[in-house]
Amino acid sequence: MKRLLFIFFVFLSVTSFAQKFPNLALTPPMGWNSWNTFQTNISEKLVKDIADVMVSSGMRDAGYTYIVLDDGWMAKERDANGNLVADPVKFPSGMRALADYIHAKGLKFGLYNCAGTQTCAGYPGTRGYEYQDARLYASFDIDYLKFDWCNTDGITAKEAYKTMSKALKVAGKPIVFSLCEWGGNKPWLWAAEVGHLWRTTGDIYAGWAGTKNNGSWSANSVTRIIESQDSLRKYAGPGHWNDPDMLEVGNGMKVSEDRAHFAMWCMLAAPLIAGNDLRHMSAETREILTNKEVIAVNQDALGIQAYKYAVADSVETWIKPLKNNEVAICFLNRSANPQKINFNWKEHPIKDDLSKTYIDFNQTEYKIKDIETGKEKGKAKSAFEATVPSHDVVMIILSKL
Ligand code: GLA
Repeated sequence: MKRLLFIFFVFLSVTSFAQKFPNLALTPPMGWNSWNTFQTNISEKLVKDIADVMVSSGMRDAGYTYIVLDDGWMAKERDANGNLVADPVKFPSGMRALADYIHAKGLKFGLYNCAGTQTCAGYPGTRGYEYQDARLYASFDIDYLKFDWCNTDGITAKEAYKTMSKALKVAGKPIVFSLCEWGGNKPWLWAAEVGHLWRTTGDIYAGWAGTKNNGSWSANSVTRIIESQDSLRKYAGPGHWNDPDMLEVGNGMKVSEDRAHFAMWCMLAAPLIAGNDLRHMSAETREILTNKEVIAVNQDALGIQAYKYAVADSVETWIKPLKNNEVAICFLNRSANPQKINFNWKEHPIKDDLSKTYIDFNQTEYKIKDIETGKEKGKAKSAFEATVPSHDVVMIILSKL
């Protein structure tokens, strides 16, 4: 009997640590990350100012919760006990104090490290220190860990991320685990049990089309990233998201491009991690980032990623089924000219086997609401006509009458 009990407890402890923390990121995580604007030029003062403005700008109330410090928060060496150390010049009060400051504002705190021997910017990586680092993060009281993939020669992505996931679980503090492996090892096939979100591509840059050559690697524009997301939709859902990288809203594209970028990330049920300098954002940037109707599409409880329904004259039609039999439709104009759309509902039944959404507009009536303006636009009876400006979107919601 004792032997049986022993086997039972061993089984229990192994199985209970086998998986990531459950019930986290049930809708796509929302927050801010330091990398896109500041790279490694970060400091305690900056992070506190960002936390303050996250509240005063209305970002927190719009749903942005996580403040994540990316690469560059550490000293170049571990201490004598092998622990990571916060850079004493950039962060004189240490990480626990910063976490407490952020938590007191009703926000959550995240840090970055890497599965390899060093981070991408050359700071100490976690390889060989997974359990020790996980314990340290728990003692810092962080809520989110982004885990990168530089300097990983000879290791297997699935195993490396599994090990870190397990280490976090053993350390005991519930932490959202964000895999930043860039999609090379197809994390969508294996990471749902390991983490809560996984990058699907290399890094984004604030550009509309094409790629940007950075020497040994290329960064991706917004539309370049969108092109590779459609085939991945079946892997996303509550607690496990495709991550097409952080937002570049407010980082130099045209306002229309920022609007389209944000709308499409919402349609794709992507994590919404702002990457701009919140302290100095324009009114337009703030409006885009805090648009409650568009964010509601992203945060819809069903967590269904949109699919590309049609393409005509450089206008892509994307469809995202929502709860309560609602459907979001986004017309994305990728061309340099404004495009007229004439969408005849009766010729466009919706048949989405993944979400089991089937709509025949000859049979059921829907009312249409323009998301940007909040205005009712009639019923899905006659054709829907609109002009989509260049590099912009028109986004509507259909609700059953
Ligand atoms: C990689 C990641 C980026 C960022 C940098 C930091 O490129 O993909 O998001 O974290 O590393 O060095």
